[in-house]
Amino acid sequence: MSSTQQKFSVHMRPNWAEVSLATLAENYKVVARHIGSGVTPCCVIKCDAYGHGVIESARALEAAGATFLGVTSTEEGIAVREAGVKLPILVMTGFWRGEERPLLAHNLTPAIATLEHIELLEKAAAELGLEHRIPVHLKVDTGMARLGVSLEELPRLAARIADSKYIELEGVFSHLAESEVLDSAFVGEQDKLFARAIAVLAGAGLRPRYCHLANTAATVARPEIWNNMARPGLALYGYNLQCEGPGAEKAVLPVVPVLTWKTRIIALREVAPGTSVGYNRNWRATRPTRLAVIPVGYGDGYPRSLSKGGRVIVGDHYAPIAGNISMDLTMIDVTDVPGVELGDEVLLIGRSEHCQVGADELARRAGTIVYEILCGLSPRVPRIYV
Ligand SMILES: Cc1ncc(COP(=O)(O)O)c(C=O)c1O
Repeated sequence: MSSTQQKFSVHMRPNWAEVSLATLAENYKVVARHIGSGVTPCCVIKCDAYGHGVIESARALEAAGATFLGVTSTEEGIAVREAGVKLPILVMTGFWRGEERPLLAHNLTPAIATLEHIELLEKAAAELGLEHRIPVHLKVDTGMARLGVSLEELPRLAARIADSKYIELEGVFSHLAESEVLDSAFVGEQDKLFARAIAVLAGAGLRPRYCHLANTAATVARPEIWNNMARPGLALYGYNLQCEGPGAEKAVLPVVPVLTWKTRIIALREVAPGTSVGYNRNWRATRPTRLAVIPVGYGDGYPRSLSKGGRVIVGDHYAPIAGNISMDLTMIDVTDVPGVELGDEVLLIGRSEHCQVGADELARRAGTIVYEILCGLSPRVPRIYV
């Protein structure tokens, strides 16, 4: 738990997320079996492990046999290292000037993409008197137009890396812009550019041990571009990406959601037909209605756009949201749920015997992506590890 999360206890406000580390470990094994022993998974645990808790997730993955982790920043990498995790940790977004010494001191593996990155690392390595070469992964831009060295600039950078007595090019990688579109010609183009980048490096005498392009969708559905490392994130947390194109229905792995989000009913009232509910009064009871209040709102990362069309699970029944979601509270219509009482458990993300609401359903209804739902779960929702 982060320090912010630790401040809150389930005994204070009934709004918490249960994270099953056993499910995370099982999902890791599903992914690892799928790609086979020739491909090393770099388990992506950035953004607090997609909201699941980076330290607990890193430890669980290490115990499950993971061999490589990927974070977004030096700060995240240091937190994982200081928690005792021994695995190589790739800092995928690179590093900022001033971070090079802590990065090396914590034995993190930086992504690099510029001459400045190389110079900063060399200087820090010399100052620290490092006796081993620093493993780095070079990021190449093949079409995402986000980070990475371009194919045009690559020969110069490759020559510079080849000359460096401090740097060892352990990996080369790139990122796909639409891996979930299974017949995308653009992905094919990115793959070709990536192969050209590997050839340019070979021309400079550089043969990185790891070459990687694949995120979850490509890990699941595109073996032709796996190379020898893949970077799955979302699948580890139990979600497949909704793929498009031929074979999309088969592009799923049997992974199970790791996180369940729960709350309890804190107030109940009966209202007459015509009664308006909540801010802006844009929901009205059309029949004698039983309303329940749950202590969850957009301040917890429960999207306000679920006000229309959102639903939760109460006692193995679906209950629709009634009225606009507020910052801290939400009203639900429990008229059709038999025997509801104060204190009853409510599932915001989870499954009961006959009902299921996944983070993917929330995303669809809120007009966003599952990543944003998981990463958006606020720190004030304590994560309980089960
Ligand atoms: C560079 C990089 N690699 C891998 C991933 C993992 O992606 P996914 O969660 O789709 O597997 C991400 C996530 O955005 C990323 O930015």
